[in-house]
This record gives sequence, C-alpha cells and structure tokens, in this order.
Amino acid sequence: MNYNNEMMMKFKGIPENERFARASTAIFISPLNPTLSELNDIKTAVSEAVTNAIIHGYENNPGEVFMGCTIKSNTVYIKIEDKGKGIENIEKAMSPLYTTKPDLGRSGLGFTVMESFMDKINVSSEIGKGTIVEMTKTIQNEST
Ligand SMILES: Nc1ncnc2c1ncn2[C@@H]1O[C@H](COP(=O)(O)OP(=O)(O)O)[C@@H](O)[C@H]1O
Ligand SMILES: [Mg+2]
Repeated sequence: MNYNNEMMMKFKGIPENERFARASTAIFISPLNPTLSELNDIKTAVSEAVTNAIIHGYENNPGEVFMGCTIKSNTVYIKIEDKGKGIENIEKAMSPLYTTKPDLGRSGLGFTVMESFMDKINVSSEIGKGTIVEMTKTIQNEST
C-alpha cells in the first residue's frame, strides 16, 4: 500500500498527556493495519519518550512537547522533542539501567525499551536547549 501521511502536534508537558500522545499515535498509524504487537511497541516507545520529555526534560516546570509522525508507505517515523534541560552524555543516558532519578523509582530502561521496540532510534540533545528523539519502525503486516 502506498500510503503517505504526516502530522505534527504540540501539547503541554504534563503526565495527563502521555495517554493522549499514545492514543493519538495509535489512531494515526491505524491505516497501516499494524498487528497488536506492532501497535503496542510503537505506543510504548512513544510513551517512554514523552514521559522522558515531561519528567527529565521539564522536571517540575512543564513546557511544550512537540510530537510529529510521518508515514511513508509501511514505515512510521516519529519525532518527540522538548525544549527542556537537555542531556549531557547521550551514550551514557541510553545505556541500560542508567537513570538520574532513582528516587522517583525510575528503572533507567526507557531508552532500552525504545531501542528494542523500534527499528531505529536517534537522539540529539543540547544542554539548556532540549532533546529530540527520532524513531522509525516498518510495519510488516502484509494485508497493508
Ligand atoms: N528528554 C530528556 N531530557 C533530559 N534528560 C533526559 C531526557 N530523556 C532521558 N533523559 C536522561 O536519560 C536518562 C535515562 O532515560 P531512560 O532510559 O528513559 O530512564 P529513566 O527515565 O527511567 O531514568 C534519564 O534518567 C535522564 O537523565
Ligand atoms: Mg524514561
């Protein structure tokens, strides 16, 4: 199926919007007929990235979270951006079990989950400017 589409949204970085981001992503990619497993993988990855923007990027001072999604044929591209505090060492931040908020009961596995559930992930960040997480997944479902 040669289906192309794109969207871009902006929402306030508060926990209530994690569900909104997950649900709207699910609806947006539904024309690709993802399997339940593909759908859950993408929703979970979005959830982790949006949660990070909210709790790490903005900490207790909610700012704007930008989420874009592009569909090109069977491939989904997702970009989640915050203009919060940024990440000092991306490689370290992405390593399994690394967290700067163990006090909040964080597992340090958010990036590990994004990496394993999506085909590709790229993180760019600048201290004091914010963080951009880009993720890609190709939907295998043959009925599309
Ligand atoms: N959007 C972000 N802005 C600032 N720091 C971030 C962001 N996303 C992740 N980080 C940093 O990377 C670490 C690891 O993230 P993650 O793997 O999701 O684990 P957790 O969220 O459980 O700490 C976080 O503890 C935080 O220090
Ligand atoms: Mg996290």
